[in-house]
Amino acid sequence: MTMSRTPFHLAWFISKGYGPKAWRMPWGGPNPHAWVKPDLFINLTQALERACFDYVMIEDSSNIPYTYRNSHDVYVRYACDSPKLDPSVLAPFLIQATSRIGVITTLSTTEYNPFLLARLTNALDHVSDGRSGWNVVTGSNDGGAQNFGLERQFPHDERYEMADEYVELVCKLWESWEPDAMVIDQAAEVFADPAKVHPVHHEGRYFRSRGPLSAPRAPQGRPVICQAGGSARGRSFAARWAETIIAKAGSVAAMKSFRDDVRARAAGFGRDPDQIKVLFQITPIVDAFDDVAQERRKAIAREALTHAEFHLASLSRLTGIDFSKFDLDEVLPDLKSNGHQTIAAACSGKTPRQLLEGSLSLKDIDPTGTPDRVAHVMSEIIEEVGGDGFLFTYPELTRRYITEIADGLAPALQKLGVHRKAYRHGMLRDHLLEY
Ligand SMILES: Cc1cc2nc3c(=O)[nH]c(=O)nc-3n(C[C@H](O)[C@H](O)[C@H](O)COP(=O)(O)O)c2cc1C
Repeated sequence: MTMSRTPFHLAWFISKGYGPKAWRMPWGGPNPHAWVKPDLFINLTQALERACFDYVMIEDSSNIPYTYRNSHDVYVRYACDSPKLDPSVLAPFLIQATSRIGVITTLSTTEYNPFLLARLTNALDHVSDGRSGWNVVTGSNDGGAQNFGLERQFPHDERYEMADEYVELVCKLWESWEPDAMVIDQAAEVFADPAKVHPVHHEGRYFRSRGPLSAPRAPQGRPVICQAGGSARGRSFAARWAETIIAKAGSVAAMKSFRDDVRARAAGFGRDPDQIKVLFQITPIVDAFDDVAQERRKAIAREALTHAEFHLASLSRLTGIDFSKFDLDEVLPDLKSNGHQTIAAACSGKTPRQLLEGSLSLKDIDPTGTPDRVAHVMSEIIEEVGGDGFLFTYPELTRRYITEIADGLAPALQKLGVHRKAYRHGMLRDHLLEY
């Protein structure tokens, strides 16, 4: 008798956005200058569609950071968290090259005007036949805010107050054309029914917009909303709006308590928690033999230590805290951040060296080994957590890694009966609600 296992969702996080990948590593490809072209990301998305993933998500931030040593030197020299091309230019290429997989684009509520964002995301949903999503971020780095004329980021919790009103307005604009407003009746010479297109007249605390949106309702109506709030305020924002929540957790227990918490918060907003899919970041290392995979995992930790500046600069950007002022073996104090509070909290009480060694690993989870072994580990985690899936991420993305996951691990998950073997639907929301 075979045990029936819970099926789960798989998605991919294009960490460090539409930027250079593995440019100084083996398997980075024959032409490092080609990073400005969409090809690697098209290959990725096609491979993930072959493997029946739910979606690919393009990370973004729009500044050259200077948090580490109050200088942009490390960031520019090593291509650390920058440069990044605009993700909304990449998304249509990924959509055009595929037909089923979802494509989620990160766009910041402090950087985009809400009308502009509603229009852009509506257009992406039209051209993708309902496969698009928006990763709602509020921004975190002061350097980013300064590019948009602010002195620094708004205070952390106020950013989410603003984002609540922002998303409310965007939803009104998305829905300002009734679903059947566009009739295109050639005989009657009616393109769209004026009675079914409504101004929104939004007059809020932070935003104003007359509406209606200058485009008809998109196939999904509301493109899928994705969010990653980790703080208490961020979680309640995600619980109110998100249909898929992406999260980083350091242990199985932390995954379970995060998921339980956002589900309870969602129920508090009158939502059905089963309509929210919480996906946890994971970076499996798979190879033909367990010991080869283990050796690769150790080599990654060693690499992090030999490029300490690179990794510490990245942490500095995320938290807004300059990690150059700490000794490698100094136990970090209780860190306070106006940026990514969850990451700052996770660093507190550890030494920078420990952070570097553990950068891609999780405390009690070891997704390292043959595809079959890793598939079992992932399935066991989901059994314990209760759902809903994983968000793959590998910052130094290569075609080798893509193949290992899409053609190695995904088939092992399918064999185990925890991952779909074929798409049943055409739109992103339907993939998410399939189980
Ligand atoms: C998997 C994951 C992906 C994220 N992607 C982005 C991103 O693309 N751009 C961004 O500005 N922030 C991104 N964030 C940061 C979140 O939006 C959020 O600010 C962070 O998780 C901290 O939570 P908090 O804002 O509630 O403190 C990401 C976070 C996680 C965990």
